[in-house]
Amino acid sequence: MKRFLKDALVTIFLVALGAFFYLRLGYAPAAATDSPFPLEKQIASMALRAHISKEGLAKPDMPLTEGAMMEGAKVYREYCAVCHGIAGQPKSPTARGMYPPPPQLFQGKGVTDDPIGETYWKVANGVRLTGMPGYRGSLMDTQLWQVSMLLANANKLPPDVSAFLTNAAPPK
Ligand code: HEC
Repeated sequence: MKRFLKDALVTIFLVALGAFFYLRLGYAPAAATDSPFPLEKQIASMALRAHISKEGLAKPDMPLTEGAMMEGAKVYREYCAVCHGIAGQPKSPTARGMYPPPPQLFQGKGVTDDPIGETYWKVANGVRLTGMPGYRGSLMDTQLWQVSMLLANANKLPPDVSAFLTNAAPPK
């Protein structure tokens, strides 16, 4: 037992030392253009999922209406499109330079298959070390839900809302 403990401590020490030199000697990725370190994506998404499910998912306290989605579209154009893009338009220079890359929420299925409470959580709280800001302190709670509703229904938006999103000038 004593021997086992000693071996375990030595192993932990060596792993910690290895990690220290990996970071200290500049081998770990630090630029947005570097490739991810081993298991980076898995570790980050496991932590995020566990954190969100520990808090539980909130539900919107407003009905899903075209007006609500239009308000969400205004928020989206103003604050989100620069990173998350608009249907049919190329990624903005800002989005192209980011790591992790901001998912293009109007391409493919976006977050249409995620529970709306999960999207709301991410918009409200942001995602640490990714560039995804938390908007709880700067937007009204109603706006957080409106933009979450927009994204949850990105594949079946009323024509006026789609037109509003795509006809305005491309994101800067
Ligand atoms: C400066 C760039 C930036 C801005 C502005 C931004 N985001 Fe993000 N967002 C990101 C990045 C990067 C991620 C990916 C985070 C990750 O890898 O976990 C992300 C992730 C998300 C996700 C999760 C997507 C998924 O697939 O799970 C949602 C939803 C989201 N953002 C919504 C928004 C909304 C709504 C706004 C505007 C109110 C916004 N974002 C503004 C960069 C941005």
